[in-house]
Amino acid sequence: MTDLLSSAPRPAVSGRADAPTFAVISGEQVRQALSGRERQLVELVETAYRLHGAGESVNPPSYFLRFPDRPTARIIALPAAIGGPDRVDGLKWISSFPDNVGAGLPRASAVLILNDHDTGYPFACLESSIISATRTAASAALAADWLSRGRTRPTRVGFFGTGLIARYIHTFLAGTGWDFEAVGVHDVSADSAEGYCGYLRQAGTTARITVHDSAEDLVRASDLVVFATVAGRPHVTDPALFSHNPLVLHVSLRDLAPEILLGSANFVDDVEHCLKADTSPHLVEQLTGNRDFLNGTLEDVMAGRAAPPTDRPVVFSPFGLGVLDLVVGKYVYDEVSRTGDLRLIDDFFHELRRYG
Ligand SMILES: NC(=O)c1ccc[n+]([C@@H]2O[C@H](COP(=O)([O-])OP(=O)(O)OC[C@H]3O[C@@H](n4cnc5c(N)ncnc54)[C@H](O)[C@@H]3O)[C@@H](O)[C@H]2O)c1
Repeated sequence: MTDLLSSAPRPAVSGRADAPTFAVISGEQVRQALSGRERQLVELVETAYRLHGAGESVNPPSYFLRFPDRPTARIIALPAAIGGPDRVDGLKWISSFPDNVGAGLPRASAVLILNDHDTGYPFACLESSIISATRTAASAALAADWLSRGRTRPTRVGFFGTGLIARYIHTFLAGTGWDFEAVGVHDVSADSAEGYCGYLRQAGTTARITVHDSAEDLVRASDLVVFATVAGRPHVTDPALFSHNPLVLHVSLRDLAPEILLGSANFVDDVEHCLKADTSPHLVEQLTGNRDFLNGTLEDVMAGRAAPPTDRPVVFSPFGLGVLDLVVGKYVYDEVSRTGDLRLIDDFFHELRRYG
């Protein structure tokens, strides 16, 4: 990766800063920069978690903008800064409008702004629904790897909710070496389940594909369960469904009843972030009045401070950290710069002399 300072505004020898530039990076450019790079991106996300764990980040709480007239919709602001050789600051601004899906548009849309570490100047605006899905899927694949070490490696994956995020997670699992003998699919929408099966076939999966009409059957048939629904409150309530001790990637955060988490080992990406906004772990904290049910963060596992047990279900609930968007966004920016395809907006910053 190139150093941030080689492509962003920097002080000149005279003491005057070079004129800052501003680039706009389209979804197609983002896709090109990221496609087929699953292993590299999982490593990038692992590095970001380690920097975050070492305190080399600033990642304040996300801000949720909600609307009385559109109760299912929200727009979330995720400001963050990450250190390390590719240090960068920035903001992800991501909308979730679930009714879009019925109108033929994806639920989520987003932009990511990158700010220069030294001057604070924003230097790029990137289409970010792909970056967001990518960092979420890379984090899920990383967790599947680390949390299954020392346990029997899953061979039967079940996707509970089969939208864009589920597709990206499958791509990242497949792209980082997971080879499943069975892929189970469950969705309240038969069209979504069918569309997902089409994707799986197109992706060339050799696994046996089963659409489960019953949520219970999907969970029982899977030793790796991926939750990627848009449920606002728990709808899976029976701990007995998890008696085979699966690894659960609880990416949509609000599907599992507290009883299930209380019978499981629980890992999160960041404790303060995850115990908010009525996520299932937040509900457990409200119910029990403590955080004793948490076994640690994924970074604790990576650093050897915590280990997933073999005799209980293991649940990973990632809130989704802005620092992950930053590292993936910066990676895209550097790739597009490297190929000479940056589209700079002429004269974006206009008032650059203090007295005109
Ligand atoms: N934790 C993170 O970092 C992170 C990041 C990005 C997205 N997400 C979450 O991932 C989820 C999925 O996002 P997406 O873009 O794929 O959404 P999407 O709308 O494209 O797909 C969601 C799917 O879930 C299905 N569904 C809804 N309720 C269900 C239920 N009770 N049982 C089974 N299926 C159900 C829908 O029919 C739909 O097919 C969202 O909740 C989103 O907030 C989490």
